[in-house]
Amino acid sequence: MNLETLHQRIAEIEGELRALLGGLASPDAVRGLEGSILGKEGSLGSLIATVKQYPPEQRGQVGQAVNAAKGRIKALMEQRLQELQNAHADADAAQAGEFDPTLPGTPEPMGSVHPVTAVQWEIERCFERLGFTVEDGPEMESEYNNFEALNIPATHPARDMQDTFWLTSGMVLRTHTSPVQHRSMLKFGAPLRVIAPGRCFRYETIDASHENTFHQVEGLMIDRDISIPNLIAMAKTLLAEVMKREVELRVRPGYFPFVEPGIEIDMNCQICGGKGCPTCKHSGWVEILPAGMVHPNVLRAGGIDPEEFSGFAFGLGLTRLAMMKYGIRDIRVLNAGDLRALVSPRRLGGPSVV
Ligand code: FA5
Repeated sequence: MNLETLHQRIAEIEGELRALLGGLASPDAVRGLEGSILGKEGSLGSLIATVKQYPPEQRGQVGQAVNAAKGRIKALMEQRLQELQNAHADADAAQAGEFDPTLPGTPEPMGSVHPVTAVQWEIERCFERLGFTVEDGPEMESEYNNFEALNIPATHPARDMQDTFWLTSGMVLRTHTSPVQHRSMLKFGAPLRVIAPGRCFRYETIDASHENTFHQVEGLMIDRDISIPNLIAMAKTLLAEVMKREVELRVRPGYFPFVEPGIEIDMNCQICGGKGCPTCKHSGWVEILPAGMVHPNVLRAGGIDPEEFSGFAFGLGLTRLAMMKYGIRDIRVLNAGDLRALVSPRRLGGPSVV
């Protein structure tokens, strides 16, 4: 290769490099090019080995030309490297600028306890302060505990008051929480104070205020000299505590075979304010707390002497109380898995966090 051809070749190499560098997008790609141009086998590096082939008087010129080209090529590569590094740094900075730690985060929907559970906990806390124990009972009960121990023999017409789910085994899905009265008398004897919240089941026609699966809270207090005024005072305390205000109560006679006398304590409907609506069956009152003085037969079945002890019992309609508290008009919402009522009952008048 004569000197002229050598200069042409060097110019070609530089031209190709310029074209190539413009298309490279990353610093690594630029670095990767170095070997193929400046390495021993590279397009320019291999020209250095040819210096010896030139006559001695030309070798100096050839060496200078190749070294100068090497310097220019290095500078070109360095410049492109710098450009790409700056561009990457700018992109990182721009991306970092999108994150503002002072902005509020994306709100996540919060869950909450079921409205019935919320009221149940409130009632439990209230009764625990009054010295009551919280008891549990099975949802599948014996016929004896659900009826007979409560003074409702097989042939008694009162059995018709509670449409019952009978199991093929002869057991029943408890129709009320009252069987826990009997269980607690056997477990603790007298005197005793217990409440028993839980699920009950009835073969009911479902409407705005009746479900086939609902909650009650049983209450039982047995001691010496317990009387109806104790019961009414307790009902007032309880309902005012749950509703967070004085509520209007109506007491009327009620019949339940396991109490004597029996009473019904109704609360004025909190949905319509007592004017009448489907929830209160247009009466302005909601049946919330049937109660009475424990029948001597029930005390005897529980091993307690009715000559020495007396007591009151009640069966609070927990589901209906939760409806009153949170303004839930239709009981079916509570078992339907409707997230508006369950996750955010505040929309229906209830709490989103309890
Ligand atoms: C009873 O279940 C009695 N065991 C209550 C009792 C206990 C009386 C102790 C005396 C002494 P009753 O069938 O009325 O009574 O039901 C009690 C409450 O449960 C009702 O006032 C009502 O609030 C609620 N309840 C009854 N049936 C349903 C239903 N299908 N859906 C929703 N709530 C109901």
